[in-house]
Amino acid sequence: MINSLEFENFFNNISKELGQKKEEAYNLCKYVQQVNDIKGDIVEIGVFKGKSAQILNYYKSVEKKLYLFDTFEGLIDCGNIDGNIIHNGSFQSNYNIVKKLFNSNDKVEIIIGYFPKMLPWNLRIKNFLLYI
Ligand SMILES: C[S@@+](CC[C@H](N)C(=O)[O-])C[C@H]1O[C@@H](n2cnc3c(N)ncnc32)[C@H](O)[C@@H]1O
Repeated sequence: MINSLEFENFFNNISKELGQKKEEAYNLCKYVQQVNDIKGDIVEIGVFKGKSAQILNYYKSVEKKLYLFDTFEGLIDCGNIDGNIIHNGSFQSNYNIVKKLFNSNDKVEIIIGYFPKMLPWNLRIKNFLLYI
């Protein structure tokens, strides 16, 4: 169960700077809690400025590692179907922005890498929840 007061406080803190839909955040918290009793780690592909990464980190069990993958170059190969708002380069970010969020956290690893080329990582990360 998610403690609603704790969630509200946490959500207000992360949404100030990064913007976040409350329902989306709440659902992600629930998904993480559902796998907390299952052995394995958590992998996110597409970190942007670390909004969902902070949720994953906050709600995961302490022993789980969190692997964060991003090119930090934003979206690529966008087409007409993606509309006017989303285009190549949208959601471009910066490794250091994310690094700063998890500075002294040895359970969080940030990997600059293009999916699926970074797939060899799968060989060393066993049993993981993947969030894209
Ligand atoms: C919509 S944003 C992710 C939003 C993020 N999950 C959040 O909650 O703020 C998409 C991210 O995916 C990254 N990205 C896009 N294509 C990628 C790929 N092939 N491999 C790795 N990262 C990629 C972009 O650089 C961007 O940061």
